[in-house]
Amino acid sequence: MSPGLRYFLIFTLLIPTIGSAADAAAGKALYAPCITCHGANGEGNTAVASPAIAGQSEDYLVRQLRNFNSGLRGTNPEDTGGAQMRPMAATLADDAAIESVVAYIASLDTPPAPAATLSGDAGSGAKFYVSRCGACHGGKGEGNDALFAPRLTTLRDSYIVQQVELFRSGTRGAHPDDKYGQQMAIMAKVVTDRELNDIVAFLNELAQQ
Ligand code: HEC
Ligand code: HEC
Repeated sequence: MSPGLRYFLIFTLLIPTIGSAADAAAGKALYAPCITCHGANGEGNTAVASPAIAGQSEDYLVRQLRNFNSGLRGTNPEDTGGAQMRPMAATLADDAAIESVVAYIASLDTPPAPAATLSGDAGSGAKFYVSRCGACHGGKGEGNDALFAPRLTTLRDSYIVQQVELFRSGTRGAHPDDKYGQQMAIMAKVVTDRELNDIVAFLNELAQQ
């Protein structure tokens, strides 16, 4: 290999690594105020109803932080969780800050399966999940970036139920510019409370796998 080619390869291989490492380092500092609610490992905090964010799709996290900042999420007066989160998203001054903090979150380990707090019929939940949720959220609840659908298996059952209720009542996903939230809001209306309970029981099983 010619020395020129060797240097070219070294640089092209190294530059992206240096770039993302720097982002994650800046992101670590930006993440400090998030720890109170999302935990040092991004595992979430039941006491303040804040979800796990480690292990989640980076595209999804970036979009949610942008949505909080632009008012697509968290502006409905009924949305108390969103109201807590919006000023925190506002600490991220621009897209570069959002991408850095998300690069840091992405560097954290996927949290362990959340403890089940709701009980339902996982067998019937599996059927409802496959017919009403899995096409977008993936057969194993792993999410699908191509369809903008987040991973569900890292999320607590109580958070999933709460968010589906927020979508259903128009508290989340009703902003005219929130097209992905609107897609989910339609789906939130096709399940009853009982079916949703069974679905989260099934998701709890998937999370253990
Ligand atoms: C005061 C508590 C609090 C702090 C501090 C906080 N958050 Fe949140 N965060 C929440 C709550 C509560 C929610 C859920 C909002 C809802 O119910 O819609 C949330 C939601 C999110 C979401 C959306 C997750 C999802 O699954 O849709 C992201 C991303 C997020 N927070 C990132 C951050 C980042 C990054 C920071 C630090 C800059 C931060 N949060 C600081 C409380 C907090
Ligand atoms: C047509 C595709 C589609 C289907 C089917 C669908 N979803 Fe979603 N779901 C989405 C999208 C897209 C989002 C992200 C919305 C956003 O960007 O705010 C989402 C978001 C969610 C969230 C919020 C997660 C978080 O981290 O805050 C939950 C919970 C959820 N979906 C549960 C379900 C359940 C349960 C079902 C089945 C009853 C279902 N979804 C069916 C597309 C879908």
